[in-house]
Amino acid sequence: MKKIKVAPSILSADFCKMAEAVCDIKVWGADIVHCDVMDGVYVPNLTFGMPMVKSLNRHTDLPLDAHLMIIRPERYVEQFCEAGADIVTFHPEACQSEETAHKALGEIRDAGKKCGVAVNANMPAEIALPYLDEIDILVIMTVQAGFGGQSFKPECLKKAEFLKAEASKRGITFDIEFDGGVCPSNAAQCKDAGATVLVAGNAVFKSSDPAAAIFSMQLPL
Ligand code: DX5
Ligand code: ZN
Repeated sequence: MKKIKVAPSILSADFCKMAEAVCDIKVWGADIVHCDVMDGVYVPNLTFGMPMVKSLNRHTDLPLDAHLMIIRPERYVEQFCEAGADIVTFHPEACQSEETAHKALGEIRDAGKKCGVAVNANMPAEIALPYLDEIDILVIMTVQAGFGGQSFKPECLKKAEFLKAEASKRGITFDIEFDGGVCPSNAAQCKDAGATVLVAGNAVFKSSDPAAAIFSMQLPL
């Protein structure tokens, strides 16, 4: 039976114990490792870059999902693929132009990886329209990108419904990932809005029972 995939965000883990965190994630039954890359420019926070992804790749066989919250991500997508990311997503408005965003998606696909665009909480759903035919995954942010542990914004869910309807008009499909403030109590709402992947940082790492938290979000599709 197909189920929602859960991608714990290591942003909520102890940065001194990242190898342990990716091993824990696997033992807890998660499907994907979500890596939040922030540059202090596109978002007001700094995290890590390709070297972290490269190191994590040596410690886990779970797919690595690199969510690039950086200005001009087209400069780095190939390097994230080389570092071992299996999925690379970025915010299209952070690219120099629509043309460079298309090119970046092509580079990710040419590297044999899955590509996607992310719609930030303050951006309209329409920002993703030019890319729908090229993506494997659509990320709908349910918080403003920048920090873990924020509260879920249910008003963002309708963007996924709109873009999913557009996809079915075009006869295409892609994964839909909700990212930000996702937890067991809003997972069903996310599923109803079209989720196939759920990112969860605090809901996993701050839980007293992370395995149960993950299991309760892996809803049947
Ligand atoms: C926010 C990040 C999210 C976030 C998820 O900018 O993209 O991935 O860290 O963490 P929680 O689930 O705690 O909101
Ligand atoms: Zn993220």
